[in-house]
Amino acid sequence: MEKTIIIYESKTGNTEKVALTIKDGLEDAGLEVSLKKVDDASNIDFFDYDLIYIGSPSYNWRPIKSISDFLTNKFNNYKEKGKIKIGSPRIPGKNSLVFCTYSGPHTGMRPFQRVK
Ligand SMILES: Cc1cc2nc3c(=O)[nH]c(=O)nc-3n(C[C@H](O)[C@H](O)[C@H](O)COP(=O)(O)O)c2cc1C
Repeated sequence: MEKTIIIYESKTGNTEKVALTIKDGLEDAGLEVSLKKVDDASNIDFFDYDLIYIGSPSYNWRPIKSISDFLTNKFNNYKEKGKIKIGSPRIPGKNSLVFCTYSGPHTGMRPFQRVK
């Protein structure tokens, strides 16, 4: 069975709602799913999972700092250990997906567009 993990940050609950919805959907499809807030995920090993979801609110047009720091630290650590190299080929059977929530008028579906 594919092992999946969803790692996310959420300050006011929006990204958490999306993370929980994804978890329900994946479990309905028969996948084994772990769900972790980023502060509890520092010890996870990406290589233990087949599918990794990363979820973040958009803060100032970017992922929130705790998520950026988490990914930077993880990848620096893997690079130091020689487990990943820049430009290295994809690993068969390993996939990742990112998702975000946002509420700014500069993103999304043009809320101010006039409907004729
Ligand atoms: C400090 C701060 C900065 C934000 N910056 C953006 C932004 O640049 N673009 C955007 O669309 N939404 C922005 N938002 C809105 C959040 O991305 C949005 O409310 C998100 O769903 C919050 O997720 P959470 O409830 O999981 O914390 C910002 C919110 C805060 C508090």
